[in-house]
Amino acid sequence: MSTESQGRLTTRTIAMPSDTNPAGDIFGGWVISQMDIAAGICAGQRAQQRVVTVSMDSMSFIRPVKVGDILGVYTEVLETGRTSIKIHVEAWVRRGRIGQREKVTQAVFKFVALDEQGNPSPLPAVEDLPRYAREELNV
Ligand SMILES: CC(C)(COP(=O)(O)OP(=O)(O)OC[C@H]1O[C@@H](n2cnc3c(N)ncnc32)[C@H](O)[C@@H]1OP(=O)(O)O)[C@@H](O)C(=O)NCCC(=O)NCCS
Repeated sequence: MSTESQGRLTTRTIAMPSDTNPAGDIFGGWVISQMDIAAGICAGQRAQQRVVTVSMDSMSFIRPVKVGDILGVYTEVLETGRTSIKIHVEAWVRRGRIGQREKVTQAVFKFVALDEQGNPSPLPAVEDLPRYAREELNV
């Protein structure tokens, strides 16, 4: 399995006891939520406006997440349409805060930029993005 993450580290957090399922392992929905948050940050920078999650492709959990693991989510813009943005998202854990790093899952999330009325809104051209956004997005 690859030891190289794809994309930019966008969020980091620690899996807490309150994020567990009844069996004591981290609930998969919590991991998906962290990925959606990170992808939303990335998509928002590309769109420079409000974005909404419209779809995500199928995903499988390769490795479990345990209480005390640091979950790091990496994001990268894969492609853009007129109003939509596809983001490649990878979730990695560092075991028990200091241990080995492992990829737990990955997926492609699609976001749509919305105007103030909640209608799909065209993305700005890459050249029109603020410098900080271009640096963070590596475009
Ligand atoms: C996102 C949303 C505004 C799109 O509305 P719509 O009327 O389908 O808009 P359009 O037909 O103009 O499509 C806009 C873009 O969305 C994409 N899109 C729309 N429905 C899609 C779907 N089911 N899957 C993937 N992409 C979709 C289109 O391809 C288009 O992309 P492009 O402009 O880059 O070509 C609407 O589906 C919506 O509000 N969904 C709910 C989103 C939400 O609330 N998410 C959080 C869930 S808790």
